[in-house]
Amino acid sequence: MEIPFAESYKIKMVESIRKSTREEREHWIKNAKYNLFNLRSDQVYIDLLTDSGTGAMSDKQWGAMMVGDESYAGARSYYNMKNALKEILGFDYFLPTHQGRAAENVLFSVLVKEGQIVPGNSHFDTTKGHIEFRKAHAIDCTIDEAFDPEHIHPFKGNVDLTKLEKVLKEYPKEQIPFIVLTLTNNTAGGQPVSMENIKAVAQMAKNYGIKLLFDSARFAENAYFIKIREKGYADKTIKEIVKEMYQYADYATMSSKKDAIVNMGGFVCFRDEEVFKQASTYNIMFEGFITYGGMSGRDMDALAVGLDEGTEFDYLETRIKQVAYLGQKLEEYGVPFQKPAGGHAIFLDATKVLPHVPKEEYIAQTLGIELYLEAGVRGVEIGTLLADRDPDTHENRYPKLELLRLAIPRRTYTNNHMDVIAAATKNVFDRRDQITRGYKILKEAPILRHFTVELEKL
Ligand code: F0G
Repeated sequence: MEIPFAESYKIKMVESIRKSTREEREHWIKNAKYNLFNLRSDQVYIDLLTDSGTGAMSDKQWGAMMVGDESYAGARSYYNMKNALKEILGFDYFLPTHQGRAAENVLFSVLVKEGQIVPGNSHFDTTKGHIEFRKAHAIDCTIDEAFDPEHIHPFKGNVDLTKLEKVLKEYPKEQIPFIVLTLTNNTAGGQPVSMENIKAVAQMAKNYGIKLLFDSARFAENAYFIKIREKGYADKTIKEIVKEMYQYADYATMSSKKDAIVNMGGFVCFRDEEVFKQASTYNIMFEGFITYGGMSGRDMDALAVGLDEGTEFDYLETRIKQVAYLGQKLEEYGVPFQKPAGGHAIFLDATKVLPHVPKEEYIAQTLGIELYLEAGVRGVEIGTLLADRDPDTHENRYPKLELLRLAIPRRTYTNNHMDVIAAATKNVFDRRDQITRGYKILKEAPILRHFTVELEKL
């Protein structure tokens, strides 16, 4: 008999989670104004709101935390992080920051000016936010295949080179501070970018004299997909692939809460000493002195170890096979989702799961609430609520896809939990004909409304 696949770790510490009754959940979600962000975590059984900062650290990471150096300047922990970044990503200059969006804030303070254009592949909300906050514009150049959930493509996160070149031709290079490559492409469904596409984007950037930034939140998962799916990479280690990827980057920002498997932390990397120096001033203003930037020494140590563990094949195989396992179950049950399964999450195609709910009544949010009511599983809406209103017309912006993201925290849940999630989703899907109405907005903020919106059931 063939030996089946199993996790590349065993469990040393556990945390209790509590099941609840449907009556309890109905009461809680009503009190939460039908906003999943308003739930207390103990009202959730399986929490798939995000994979950010929610992973389980290893014994080695916890061990490293115990010897963290909390000196204000020149801490040993800072040098451990510096060495890890040099070793794994190959950068000489870096600044620690408290998380990914802080890294964006520091770097963009130097590089992004009013009226500029930043092309890329589905900029993450905070990336776009930090661009638009500076009155610049983000232009999405992701390939069209990414917007067809049933279309199977090995690198659905790729940049469409024709779309990119059109932007580069249209605007002078002084107006484009950099191109951003989001690895993996979170918004498109945790979909990877191929090495071929990275190289082609880098070549085009070079031809037009424009810099390239990697948004690195899930860069290791991206490298895993290159190894598994791209010709010529099967025999390379993840670390070799990562090194090759980063040769092409001028800058990197990272939310270390993802692939460096820490609860909090981030950084910016630079090739250019001059930009590093300018950014250092912003780091001191917004984050902290340049050798801690908003992080504790112990967190920098955990990050250094996490970067090393996060770029090991066995860990990544366990991680991504778990997401694929959930995808496979959903496929067996006929539940529509963005295919193939992503690196960190499954994105349910809400419009197809709940075909009778009108788009004006927030389909993906309705699905999120139904899944919570069914089994205490909390996902996050990636749809009309997240898309906010058009700033000029104040009308809802309806995105191409209404998705419910089920993000899987790293090393946290077992495949039994995946079975629960899949069964709960199937039950909602099976009673889709009875779910015909959604929600109406009672209160909303002018931007980033999905965090605080208050809803009423229709
Ligand atoms: N870039 C990407 C691709 C991200 O997914 C995130 C965060 C950030 C930047 C910002 O990093 O949260 O550390 O400030 N994504 C989380 C998520 C919040 O749930 O996908 P941060």
